[in-house]
Amino acid sequence: MKQEIGIRLLGTGSCVPSQVVTNADMEGIVETSDEWIRTRTGIEQRHIADGETNLALTKTAAERAMAMAGIDPKEIGVVICATMTGETMVPSLACLLQRECGLSEHVFAFDMSAACTGFLYALHTARALLCAVPEKKYALVTGSELLSRITDFSDRNTCVLFGDGAGAAVLELDENTAYYFDGGAKGDDQVLYCPRNYTLPNPFSHADAEPKQQKVSMEGRAVYTFAVQALTGSILRTAEQAGGLPDKYICHQANARIIQTAAKQLKEPMEKFFMNIEHCGNTSAASIPIALDECVRSGGIQRGETVMLSGFGGGLAYGTAFFTF
Ligand code: UT7
Repeated sequence: MKQEIGIRLLGTGSCVPSQVVTNADMEGIVETSDEWIRTRTGIEQRHIADGETNLALTKTAAERAMAMAGIDPKEIGVVICATMTGETMVPSLACLLQRECGLSEHVFAFDMSAACTGFLYALHTARALLCAVPEKKYALVTGSELLSRITDFSDRNTCVLFGDGAGAAVLELDENTAYYFDGGAKGDDQVLYCPRNYTLPNPFSHADAEPKQQKVSMEGRAVYTFAVQALTGSILRTAEQAGGLPDKYICHQANARIIQTAAKQLKEPMEKFFMNIEHCGNTSAASIPIALDECVRSGGIQRGETVMLSGFGGGLAYGTAFFTF
């Protein structure tokens, strides 16, 4: 397999809303228990925005990543924001980030919607753009969600799972290391679904006249089965390209049991898997960059170690990237 030019993560950053919602708080709004949530998912608390916007969280995460990278924001050539809960359809979150972070007006800036796989697709696309356009030196990739905007807080099947937050990474190409990727999609609007809410009257169309409630619904068990297969399969295919398994894993934080089952199937020790689901819950596109930032800042991954980032979820979609940190 041809060795691909690597990436170097120069900086990471994250930001979560200040409000903490515990499992005990959830017991107050739906028929659930701390014990059920902890044993079925590993979640103990999550952060839920109370006034913070997706843009504000993403801006702080991006500023922290650029500060760690030690680069001038004007040097960013590509910015891709993975999100499905941006402030507006137009402008994109990425365009607003250009303004808010003082990025160059020559930056390529756009959003990417791939739910929980969004950060992986965005990272892979950013790397491809850096390869294709050599004058672009650095890319800023973010993953952020205000899932509380699309959560039905009367549905115990979903509302106990989700949280809000943002994560970011600054990267450049690195010819001295290798990069491998595996990803794909399997369209399914039955097991994980959230409609758009187009409500303006249209005198020329009678189709779809009923406004739909913009809320997430999920068949947990079916998604769980997909998630375990996608995670294990994608890690193995990526490892086959790379010639081995990595030193560390940062997987989408949807359910601790999904990661534990994948680890068992891969015969890998749990110590290699960074986890933060207990205090963040499932933040979709934000979960991998938030976990990555926490792992980097706590010394959970060292320069020279190899890492796999692996995402899976709505779409249904999945993706895994292998690189040297
Ligand atoms: O990020 C996108 C990708 N998402 C995922 O990967 C999520 C994948 N799915 C999961 O993580 C798990 O399926 C869940 C955590 C969502 C659910 O766990 P489960 O072990 O698959 O439970 P279940 O859906 O099969 O439900 C078991 C029982 C049901 O009751 P009955 O029918 O057995 O009487 C549910 O009604 O648990 C009940 N239940 C709850 N009970 C207390 C469902 N939600 C709750 C709740 N509190 N919050």
